[in-house]
Amino acid sequence: MTEKDFIPKTYTNSVENGTATWSSPSNIALVKYWGKKDNQIPANPSISFTLDACKTTTTLTFSKKERNDDFSFEVFLDGEKKYDFKPKIETFFKRIENYVPFLKEYHFVINTKNTFPHSSGIASSASGMSALALCLMSVEKQLISIVRSSGVETSLDENHFNQKASFLARLGSGSACRSLEGDLIVWGEHKEIPNSSNLFGVKYPFEVHENFKNYHDTILLVDKGEKQVSSTVGHNLMHNHPFAEQRFAQAHNNLSKLIPVFKEGNLKSFIDIVESEALTLHGMMMTSMPYFILMKPNTLEIINKIWRFRQDTGLHICFTLDAGANVHILYPENEAQEIYEFIKTELVAYCQNGHYICDRIGFGAKQLPI
Ligand code: DP6
Repeated sequence: MTEKDFIPKTYTNSVENGTATWSSPSNIALVKYWGKKDNQIPANPSISFTLDACKTTTTLTFSKKERNDDFSFEVFLDGEKKYDFKPKIETFFKRIENYVPFLKEYHFVINTKNTFPHSSGIASSASGMSALALCLMSVEKQLISIVRSSGVETSLDENHFNQKASFLARLGSGSACRSLEGDLIVWGEHKEIPNSSNLFGVKYPFEVHENFKNYHDTILLVDKGEKQVSSTVGHNLMHNHPFAEQRFAQAHNNLSKLIPVFKEGNLKSFIDIVESEALTLHGMMMTSMPYFILMKPNTLEIINKIWRFRQDTGLHICFTLDAGANVHILYPENEAQEIYEFIKTELVAYCQNGHYICDRIGFGAKQLPI
C-alpha cells in the first residue's frame, strides 16, 4: 500500500447531510514511538495495548454548504464550544484533504466527550483523532457505492475502511493510528511483522499467550497539569539527537524480542522490555537539546515502590510511562487482586487528589447507533 491507494477515485453518491458517531479508545505503547519524519512517518516501529475504559465518543454532523472554498467546522467538548481545539483540527484537515476531498463541501459540527477528565494529563489525541477519523470514514462510506460485476451494489469493504481510518488518524496524531482495533497493534515497518506499515496500524499477527489476555492498566494520575513540552516538540528533538540511531535500532530489536515473549507468556522478559522502553523514552528527553524532564518526584516514588513490591512478592507488576508524569501500571489478570490492593494502599497516595483510572486491554473502536 502507498499513500496514493487512499485517494478515492470518485464519489458516486450525493449526500446533503447526515451524522455519524464513533467511540474510540486510548492505547498504551509497550515499544514507544518517539521521533518522526515528514508526513507523520514514524522513525521506528511501535506496539501498543489498546485500552478499554479511556475513550472518546465523537458525533460528527455534516451538512452541504454553498461554497467549497474553505474548511468550515465547530468543535464542542461536553457540549461547550472549544475554540482552542480548532487549530489542531484545521491542521488535521489540511493534512488529510487529498484523501477525503469532500471536506470543503460540508459544514461539520464535531461533538466530543471523553470518559476521562480532559485535564487528567491523559492524552486525548489518540482516542480523539481516531474517533474523528472513523466519523469521516463513515461520511465517505455514504458517498461511495461500488457496483460489482454481479450488479450488486456494495459499499467500502471493512478492511479498507479500517485501514484508511487508521491512515487518516495517523495524520492527526501518530499514536492515534493504533487505537482503532485491538488488542495489540503494531505501527511502523518491522522486518518480522508481515504487512506492518509506516502508514497505518495493523493487528499483531502472531500467537499471544493467555498471560496477556485481559491485562490490566491502572493509570496513576501524578500530575494533571498541561505538559511543559508537547509530544510534537519532543518528537522533533529526535532530529540531530546524539543517540537517535541507537534508539531506533533498539526499538526494532525490542519488538523482535517481544515476539517469543508474547508466544510463551514470559512475564519476566515482558517486564524487562516494557520498563526499559519507558525509561529510554524519558532518557531521550533528558538527553535531547534542549533537554527536559517530564517525570515528577512522585513518578519516581511510585517506580521505586513497584520495584520493591515486585522483589518482595514475585508478582508481575510493572510500569510504563507516556510523555508525561503519570504512571501506567501493567499486570496480569490472575495476579490482579493482590496487585490492585497494593496500588490502593501504597500508591494512590502519590496521585494528585488521589485520582487514578482502572483500565485494561480492549478491542478497539465501535460505531454507535444514530
Ligand atoms: C510517548 O502520537 O502524541 O505516547 O504524532 O506528534 O501527535 P504526534 O505524537 P503522539 O506521540 C505519542 C508518543 C508516546 C509514545 C507512543 O504512544 O508510542
